[in-house]
Amino acid sequence: MYSKITLILLLTISFSPILCSAATSSNLLLRGSSLSVEDSSNVLVSPNGTFSCGFHEVGINSFTFSMWFSKSYNKTIAWSANRNSPVNGKGSRVVFHKDGNMVLMDYNGEVVWSTDTSGSGANHAELLENGNLVIMDNSGKYLWQSFDNPTDTLLPGQPITLKTKLISANVSLNSSSHYACRYSDDNMVSLIYEAVELSAIYWPQPGTNSWSNSRWSSNSTRYGILDDHGYFKSSDNLTFYASDFKEEGIKRRLTLDYDGNLRLYSLDERNGSWSVSWQAFSQQCLVHGLCGKSGICVYSPKPSCSCPPGYEMRDSSNWSKGCKATFSSSCAEKMKLVMLPQTDFWGSDYYSVQGISVNECRMKCRRDCSCVGLQYMKSSRACILKSSLYNGNTYPGHWGTIYLKVPVTMNVLRSSIPQSGLEVPEVQNPSCNGSHDVTEHFSKTKHKESAVFLYLLSFALAILIIEALFITIGWWFMFRKEVGPIEVLDGYKKMTNNFQRYTYKELVKATKNFKDEIGRGGSGVVYKGIFYDERLVAVKKLDVVTQGEEEFQAELSVIGRINHMNLVQVCGFCSEGPHRILVSEYVENGSLDKILFDVAQDGNICLGWHERYKIAAGVAKGLAYLHHECLEWVLHCDVKPGNILLDADLEPKIADFGLAKLLNRGSPNHEMSQIRGTRGYIAPEWAFNLPITAKADVYSFGVVLLELVTGVSVSNMATVVGDERDVRMRDLIETAKRKSNGDEPNWVSGFVDTRLEMNFDCSQAAAMVKLAVSCMEEERSKRPSMSDALQILLSLY
Ligand SMILES: *[C@@H]1O[C@H](CO)[C@@H](O)[C@H](O)[C@H]1NC(C)=O
Ligand SMILES: *[C@@H]1O[C@H](CO)[C@@H](O)[C@H](O)[C@H]1NC(C)=O
Ligand SMILES: *[C@@H]1O[C@H](CO)[C@@H](O)[C@H](O)[C@H]1NC(C)=O
Ligand SMILES: *[C@@H]1O[C@H](CO)[C@@H](O)[C@H](O)[C@H]1NC(C)=O
Ligand SMILES: *[C@@H]1O[C@H](CO)[C@@H](O)[C@H](O)[C@H]1NC(C)=O
Ligand SMILES: *[C@@H]1O[C@H](CO)[C@@H](O)[C@H](O)[C@H]1NC(C)=O
Ligand SMILES: *[C@@H]1O[C@H](CO)[C@@H](O)[C@H](O)[C@H]1NC(C)=O
Ligand SMILES: *[C@@H]1O[C@H](CO)[C@@H](O)[C@H](O)[C@H]1NC(C)=O
Ligand SMILES: *[C@@H]1O[C@H](CO)[C@@H](O)[C@H](O)[C@H]1NC(C)=O
Repeated sequence: MYSKITLILLLTISFSPILCSAATSSNLLLRGSSLSVEDSSNVLVSPNGTFSCGFHEVGINSFTFSMWFSKSYNKTIAWSANRNSPVNGKGSRVVFHKDGNMVLMDYNGEVVWSTDTSGSGANHAELLENGNLVIMDNSGKYLWQSFDNPTDTLLPGQPITLKTKLISANVSLNSSSHYACRYSDDNMVSLIYEAVELSAIYWPQPGTNSWSNSRWSSNSTRYGILDDHGYFKSSDNLTFYASDFKEEGIKRRLTLDYDGNLRLYSLDERNGSWSVSWQAFSQQCLVHGLCGKSGICVYSPKPSCSCPPGYEMRDSSNWSKGCKATFSSSCAEKMKLVMLPQTDFWGSDYYSVQGISVNECRMKCRRDCSCVGLQYMKSSRACILKSSLYNGNTYPGHWGTIYLKVPVTMNVLRSSIPQSGLEVPEVQNPSCNGSHDVTEHFSKTKHKESAVFLYLLSFALAILIIEALFITIGWWFMFRKEVGPIEVLDGYKKMTNNFQRYTYKELVKATKNFKDEIGRGGSGVVYKGIFYDERLVAVKKLDVVTQGEEEFQAELSVIGRINHMNLVQVCGFCSEGPHRILVSEYVENGSLDKILFDVAQDGNICLGWHERYKIAAGVAKGLAYLHHECLEWVLHCDVKPGNILLDADLEPKIADFGLAKLLNRGSPNHEMSQIRGTRGYIAPEWAFNLPITAKADVYSFGVVLLELVTGVSVSNMATVVGDERDVRMRDLIETAKRKSNGDEPNWVSGFVDTRLEMNFDCSQAAAMVKLAVSCMEEERSKRPSMSDALQILLSLY
């Protein structure tokens, strides 16, 4: 007992000189000194006093190690080390250890945060005048800097790069804070709503292409910076100016606010107040996720939330939980549709078709149990059915019209339809006051008129078509000899920008009657084709297509819109009689399995380590885009080397995506009826009949990672009995798991393909094996998401 106390005393005495306090109001923290939470004057101050860095109280007895603007009236935090894990108000301290590591310790000595700079020759920490807290060595080189680790704010001179992102703070606790600002996989600075049930980019505005918002997605530099004059410029050609641009000496900050808007602020140093000098959105309601599921953002005139008719708030204290239906949405009940003018719910479209009437569209929704509402666009006669309602907003002059499904028996009050202030548009039939069903009435009167109109229209159309036929036939006979390639053009029906419909005849011609087979997969045979303009394409004949023509086209119009460097671009289709054919870009180097596993190819060098890592990262980018950033949520469900194509630079492109049923974000029934996928790559949940989520693709990606490292195909792990390969796979994973947690130094070399002759990056290989193991967890909640996986791979690139 006595000896223990002596020991403790001895320890305390021997350590206390190291932990002496730093001199107050300095901008330096030297090795061996510390800042303690109890002494509030114990802060670092930048040379001219613009920034202070020390402990900041965030709640009762809880503190963060933060940096703030000294001269703002209300304390404005520019950076925090431990925003999400505050420390105790007694005994916590920041210590710059003698070994060069700076750590934040809680009252009990637990290290909450550290700069991981031990043994790197760190000399001191310094708070610079621009708000950068840096750790330097003797020569003045930065070993660590707070500019690389922003929280929700960028300061002038602090770049946003490939690796940095801003995450909004949850200041107002009644709204969620799932907003991020970072470079998307399309190389554009984006604002992203990242929640568990759905995640989507909302700025730049979804649905517009990079060209129309004058951004560039082709520059992969990913670097943006705000200068001292209030001018921001990024590699994607995003630029903006502060409204007080060029005024010298103004302190500015670019902050992703808790409401999801990105704002540039300027400080008025006379009274310490901030004013907004630029913001990403003037229409706050266009930010995603503000009002939760089924909620609608209205201006009253401040943005606030409201529930549509037939819905009520799920949790009266928290809008981010959204609204729930007051009726049971059983399919048996008779439903009607209520019109919400000037309203839109963004996303969750599961079906869309063009050129049908509003009544046909309403009919489709009524007949379909999974339809909760529809959107109809008069101009293009487009009908979009929705499986759930997210990101609702309404304002006067809004282009959208939404129809919501409610029970026939429900009385819908006009006043219950959310409307923004200002001029509320006049609703039909003023003689009915109070309870009347806006749409039902609307559709009845419209119906008679449109019947007459349709009759006349079809008559006129018939005449036109006959006339056109005569002209075409005449023209055909006259010019038959001269028309070369031009006749092919006539067969095109443009669906979207570069997505075309081909006739069967054109494809027969392009593929020379399906002569040159280049691949064979679960869904069909692929042929090489060449068009009149010498464009090479891959033409895939799908074998089993049970869908009708309309459904097929609707799914394809989504696939056609998907455009990403690491996804094979689908450029057209053919749907004639029994034929269902996809046309996509031709990728030069064929599939990964051939290059990775074909040992027989003599003289052909095997893939080097760098290429393998690039392929892993590229596949992760493509899948992350499909899962998280696509207009629609798409699962691949058949990720394997045979579906990973390599272009001339060995950049991977994923093929065959979108053939699995397109899933809707956030819809509870993420189920797939039929097993898709390839033995060895499919996740265990397929066998247990569990609903299939994005995590099934993550599993298959894990298998591919392992194959990239080992160079051995899972199908080659099979010996005789089918199940044995699974056993051997499990063995391999168990070994990897054990070794990666052990402390054997060179454990990973035992896994790496011997053909590489030890030429590989050890930390990358270790990360890949570890990631593969976590992707292949039996329990899918333990698997990382595709974007987490991508972050891990990019961090070691
Ligand atoms: C600090 O203030 C001095 C005098 O006001 C000024 O000359 C100098 O440029 C300032 N330094 C920085 C880094 O702003
Ligand atoms: C605040 O947001 C962060 C990031 O989204 C999250 O990790 C943290 O749990 C949130 N904190 C609270 C108190 O909600
Ligand atoms: C509100 O709901 C969201 C999402 O359900 C949750 O993250 C958040 O913590 C809730 N806020 C409060 C104050 O309960
Ligand atoms: C959050 O609460 C504040 C008052 O506590 C209220 O003014 C604000 O409208 C609420 N936000 C939302 C989105 O409802
Ligand atoms: C870049 O943006 C400017 C305006 O900010 C525009 O004039 C220019 O055309 C854009 N460049 C490209 C290549 O989009
Ligand atoms: C990409 O962006 C960087 C940084 O803005 C710029 O220096 C470079 O010239 C750009 N590259 C192209 C091809 O535009
Ligand atoms: C601070 O001063 C500016 C200009 O002098 C003024 O516009 C602003 O309203 C003031 N802010 C506060 C909070 O007093
Ligand atoms: C400080 O914050 C309060 C409450 O948020 C606000 O009303 C006040 O205007 C702020 N003062 C300045 C100078 O910004
Ligand atoms: C209009 O509403 C008032 C009260 O809500 C009711 O007394 C009156 O009968 C209604 N008029 C018609 C024409 O329905």
